[in-house]
Amino acid sequence: MDALTKPTTETIQDTFPINGTDYIEFYVGNAKQAAHYYQTAFGFKLIAYRGPETGVKDTASYVLQQDKIRFVLTAALTPDHEVARHVLKHGDGVKVLALWVDDAEGAHRIAIERGAKSFAEPQRIEDKNGHVVTASIHTYGETIHTFVERSSYAGPFLPGFVAMESPMEVEPIGLKYVDHCVGNVELGQMNEWVKFYQDVMGFKLLVTFDDKDISTKYTALMSKVVSNGNGYIKFPINEPAQGLKKSQIEEYLDYYRSAGVQHIAIATNDIIHTVDELRRRGVDFLRVPDTYYDTVLERVGEINESLQELKRLNILIDRDDEGYLLQIFTKPVQDRPTVFYEIIQREGARSFGKGNFKALFEAIEREQELRGTL
Ligand code: FE2
Repeated sequence: MDALTKPTTETIQDTFPINGTDYIEFYVGNAKQAAHYYQTAFGFKLIAYRGPETGVKDTASYVLQQDKIRFVLTAALTPDHEVARHVLKHGDGVKVLALWVDDAEGAHRIAIERGAKSFAEPQRIEDKNGHVVTASIHTYGETIHTFVERSSYAGPFLPGFVAMESPMEVEPIGLKYVDHCVGNVELGQMNEWVKFYQDVMGFKLLVTFDDKDISTKYTALMSKVVSNGNGYIKFPINEPAQGLKKSQIEEYLDYYRSAGVQHIAIATNDIIHTVDELRRRGVDFLRVPDTYYDTVLERVGEINESLQELKRLNILIDRDDEGYLLQIFTKPVQDRPTVFYEIIQREGARSFGKGNFKALFEAIEREQELRGTL
């Protein structure tokens, strides 16, 4: 397997155009409290709500926004609801990676023709603010993609949601947009899902990492990155690889009980400010040893940021042919060691931080050791 490090610059022919990520929906045990965490810790503003007060009796959903990022947090109000079943099995996790398209019915039809499995047929939903068309297909595990066509809608989120403001002062921390969303799939399934994104969605294979790129003394994983035509949607897909001990991907699969979203990378223009704020607000991060900073500049060359500040915040640095990037990874944000976040600042580089993999995976293994799952 070739280990490419540079994304292709070839023009990609989209099967159907995707404008960007529309929203990411999490199914959680307690949406009200989760919404508080994303407001206080991550600086998202509450913008909309749907629940019993708006006529929906069995779920409550909070919609949070920061710049171009929209998160929806949904909880069930009854034990036999699909959302409750999902949370019982997977814990809090990502259910929907919604994609913003110009023609949801067309995107759904083409995806089905090309082999996708339908989750929800196209439907037109409307309220006094206009109408939206949505349609959904299955992807890995129990995760789905919802196509959202919203050119005729002026409301706060989707029809049925009412505008709602944060009950307290919320200070944004500079989170700009979703850079990439990573899925963990079962052993042997990575190529199947890469093929799915190529065949069904017309995505292009950008990068391949094999176990030589991503392994430590004990554990390994393999990863391929697919992207749509405009490059706004990037989906790395990981699978575990043979190692002496349990791979971090296997640990995820054991706890999530299926394939699913592993991490969401969020872009910032000022990672020092963003991470300083996240730390001050109680978000915890994976830690690489201070010795990482002794030699890092020999590897990455000159950067604009203060190395001392990057070291203080434990932010990682990598470089490719096009520039450099700064990145850091949170610890899992729920009790199960499943979903976590990456914060990334790109200074020209379009790659994924390959030079940091070893230091990072050793940091993850130290956490696994503490959980007794290595
Ligand atoms: Fe990432």
